Formats: sequence, C-alpha cells, structure tokens
Amino acid sequence: MARSGTLSVHLLLVISLSAIVVAAGGRALPLNLLRGFERPGFSRSFHRIYDTSKYGIFQLNNGLAQTPQMGWNSWNFFACNISETVIKETADALVSTGLAKLGYVHVNIDDCWSTPKRNAKGELVADPKTFPSGIKALADYVHKQGLKLGIYSDAGIYTCQVRPGSLYHEENDAKQFASWGVDYLKYDNCYNLGIKPKDRYPPMLKALNATGRQILYSMCEWGVDDPALWAGKIGNSWRTTDDINDTWASMTTIADLNDKWAAYAGPGGWNDPDMLEVGNGGMTYQEYRAHFSIWALMKAPLLVGCDVRNMTAETYQLVSNEEVIAVNQDSLGVQGRKVNVSGTGGCSQVWAGPLSRRRLVVALWNRCSKAVSITAAWEALGLDSSTSVSIRDLWQHKDVAEDVASSFSAQVDAHDCHMYMLTPQTGSRAEI
Ligand SMILES: *[C@@H]1O[C@H](CO)[C@@H](O)[C@H](O)[C@H]1NC(C)=O
Ligand SMILES: *[C@@H]1O[C@H](CO)[C@@H](O)[C@H](O)[C@H]1NC(C)=O
Ligand SMILES: *[C@@H]1O[C@H](CO)[C@@H](O)[C@H](O)[C@H]1NC(C)=O
Ligand SMILES: *[C@@H]1O[C@H](CO)[C@@H](O)[C@H](O)[C@H]1NC(C)=O
Ligand SMILES: *[C@@H]1O[C@H](CO)[C@@H](O)[C@H](O)[C@H]1NC(C)=O
Repeated sequence: MARSGTLSVHLLLVISLSAIVVAAGGRALPLNLLRGFERPGFSRSFHRIYDTSKYGIFQLNNGLAQTPQMGWNSWNFFACNISETVIKETADALVSTGLAKLGYVHVNIDDCWSTPKRNAKGELVADPKTFPSGIKALADYVHKQGLKLGIYSDAGIYTCQVRPGSLYHEENDAKQFASWGVDYLKYDNCYNLGIKPKDRYPPMLKALNATGRQILYSMCEWGVDDPALWAGKIGNSWRTTDDINDTWASMTTIADLNDKWAAYAGPGGWNDPDMLEVGNGGMTYQEYRAHFSIWALMKAPLLVGCDVRNMTAETYQLVSNEEVIAVNQDSLGVQGRKVNVSGTGGCSQVWAGPLSRRRLVVALWNRCSKAVSITAAWEALGLDSSTSVSIRDLWQHKDVAEDVASSFSAQVDAHDCHMYMLTPQTGSRAEI
C-alpha cells in the first residue's frame, strides 16, 4: 500500500513537472486527452483521421480562451466608420437580444479609434471627434453590462488605416490599454518593416503579461510563416489567412486553408479563419448557415461582424443557435476538420470532429450549386462500421435517428450545410 502510494506521488510529480515545461513554452509535450475515443466504438483510424498527436502541445498561460472567444468586432460592417455611440449601442444590443447570454461577450473595436499621431507624451489617444469620452469611459460602460472591451493595434509602425502602430511602443501601449480596462487586443500586421512576425509578436505578449491584467491576445498576422507551428506559445489565437470578405468564394477558400492547421488548435490557443460575415448581405441564408456551422466546428473565434443593432430575424436565428454554439464551446477543444470529399467536382463534403463525452459533430456541406445527397460513412468518421449511434440535427433541433450503423445520408441544398451530433450507444462511457 505504502509502496504504491509513493509511486503515485512520483507520477504526480513527473506530471506536474512536465506541465511546467509546457507552461514555460520550453518543449512540446503531446498531452493526448483523446484517450476516451477507443475501441469498441471508434476505429483504429480515429487518431489518424483527427491527428491528435499535437493536441494541447502549447497552451498560453494567461488562463484565457479555454474555449474560442465569442463576441463582436466593428470591422466587417463599419470599417473606419466607428464611434463610441456605435460601440455603446452595440453593447446594448448584445445584451437586449440575448446574444451576450449565449456567450458573445467581447465588444471589440477595430482600426480607426485613435488619432493619426501620438500625443506629446508619446501616448495613443482616442479620436476626440468619434470617441470624445475616451476608451476608459467606454470600458466602464461595457463592463457595467457584464461585457468585455477589446481594442486594436498593430505590430508595425502604423495600423492598416495609418494610425500609430505599437512596434517599439509595446510596453507603454500595453500599460495604457490595461489602465483603460481593456480585456482583449487584436494585433494587426501592417507597416511591419519586413521584420518577421516571430520577432514582432512576442514583445507584445511580454508587455501584456507585465501589466498583470488578463488581456486576451489575438494575433492577426494573416498566416505569415505558418503561425500554427509556433504561435500557440505567444497568442490566444492566430489568423491563418488573409482577410475574409462577404462572398462565398472568400469564405470557402478560407475554410479550406484553415483546415490544414486543425491539429494545432486547443484550449488556450485557436486557429483564426477571421471574423464572421453572417448578416452582412453578401451571401445567401444557406451560405451563411454553412459559414457559421463550419466556423463553429473548426473551433474558430465566433466574432459576429454585422450591425447587431439591426439584425434580420434570419441572421439572429443563425448566430443564436445554442446547439451549434455548444459545439464551438465544447470543453474538449479539438478542431473538427474535412474528413471526406466525394461526388462530381468534390461537391459533397463531410466535416467532423470529436466532442467531449465520446460524441462527434458531423457537418454535411454541399459546395456546389445543385442539391445533392451527401453520405457520411463510419469509415470516414473514425467509427467502427458496426457502431450504433443516435443522431441529433443541430439546425432542426430534433433527434432524427436512433441505432444507426455504418453510414447516414441527407439531401443538402445548394451551398447549404447540415450539422449533427452523433452519440455512440455502445462501448464504455468514459467521461472525458
Ligand atoms: C504572466 O506569465 C506568467 C508565467 O509566464 C503567468 O503565470 C501569469 O499568469 C501571466 N499573467 C498574466 C496576467 O497573463
Ligand atoms: C457612418 O455611420 C453613421 C452613423 O452610425 C451613418 O449614419 C452613416 O451612414 C455611416 N456612413 C457610411 C459611409 O457608412
Ligand atoms: C474576396 O475574396 C476572394 C477570395 O479570396 C477574392 O478573390 C476577392 O477578390 C475578394 N473580393 C474583394 C471585394 O476583396
Ligand atoms: C437595417 O437593415 C436593413 C436591411 O436589412 C437596411 O435596409 C436598413 O437601412 C438598416 N437600418 C439601419 C438604421 O441601418
Ligand atoms: C468518401 O465518401 C464516399 C461516399 O460515401 C466513399 O465512397 C469514399 O470511399 C469515402 N472516402 C474515404 C477516404 O473515406
């Protein structure tokens, strides 16, 4: 008894030392938290399909973004046309619509909030015409509603809209953001003097950490130098691509590019395929449903980018789907991915990912402009073909089938996406 007790203490010590090594960013340590996905139920190829070898290798130790961040950002709808009135009214709308309660708590100001020049003390200054009360007052307003305020700067000498950037001003700017009560920093990549992102992004992390305030660090370096391979030690999220725009072509291109890095996402650090365009008018209802479904499944930050003061009922119905949000916010934090492409022109796509409690999320996505029947075969999902599952439709909010084995199919409209939760009914019920 005593002997085995000592052994466990030693094991615990080894485990906590390893955790410290990871926390210091010194070494990649595969923490395979997917060990519940075993036979019976799941197939031998499960771990190859979802490539879990790198899951959890990095975790930024600021304690934030244990699930992907959710909220709103001003850029996609307002671009430079922002003001404290827009930000306050948006905060009000997030609360009054109920979106805040569903998790959309970050109210993020993008570019154009500051004056074109720093003040005589070298400080960033909120534009007195559009933000006359200043950022501190805005942070107070937003905090009173139980929300968080995000701000924007750039790891270069100017922002993209040619306001002062924070390169070489990291310490002072971070202090200023913290003193205003800022909770989130989006850090862009314009006017970067050709210096590598690996050299420009860590100083801001250090500066944010030194403030002692928890500030979510959202790296926006457009996927330059494959950030998934290194940014987990530096940011809570990192953009994997150029900017999104409100078109089907842009959204699908970005989804495919972001998919490549799925293995590197995990609690504390997420691949960022850019903010949502849902509700901005450039795509159909079906296309926006696909956009929202796939972003949720990919564990992307869910940052609404429309005018939430004036959403249509359709837009609200999409972004407020609690079952789809729950997929995004699942505690396991494994990024789902494209697991099968079939049909003429690769129209029929199956995207899937593991969720906590041995469940799977499965999306059937029609990438073409005619309705098709799409099949998800157990082989492609990493299930044994005999495994029996129950299936819930996350858009219809209905349990649609029990005891299904081998495969299931659905007719999917042009550019539309269905989303399902699969719960295996056999096998051990390990809690993970
Ligand atoms: C700063 O970093 C240390 C260790 O690297 C960490 O323990 C601490 O929580 C961080 N603080 C903030 C505010 O991010
Ligand atoms: C800018 O915002 C104001 C107030 O929110 C609005 O009235 C105006 O139409 C907007 N201008 C543009 C060019 O979008
Ligand atoms: C939108 O993105 C697509 C795909 O990346 C690109 O081809 C197109 O030029 C962009 N459109 C605009 C208006 O920026
Ligand atoms: C609200 O949105 C509709 C389109 O959905 C648009 O026609 C209208 O101008 C918008 N109203 C405001 C105040 O922006
Ligand atoms: C992809 O799905 C199609 C249709 O179900 C199937 O014929 C094909 O074998 C699958 N491919 C893989 C690699 O699972």
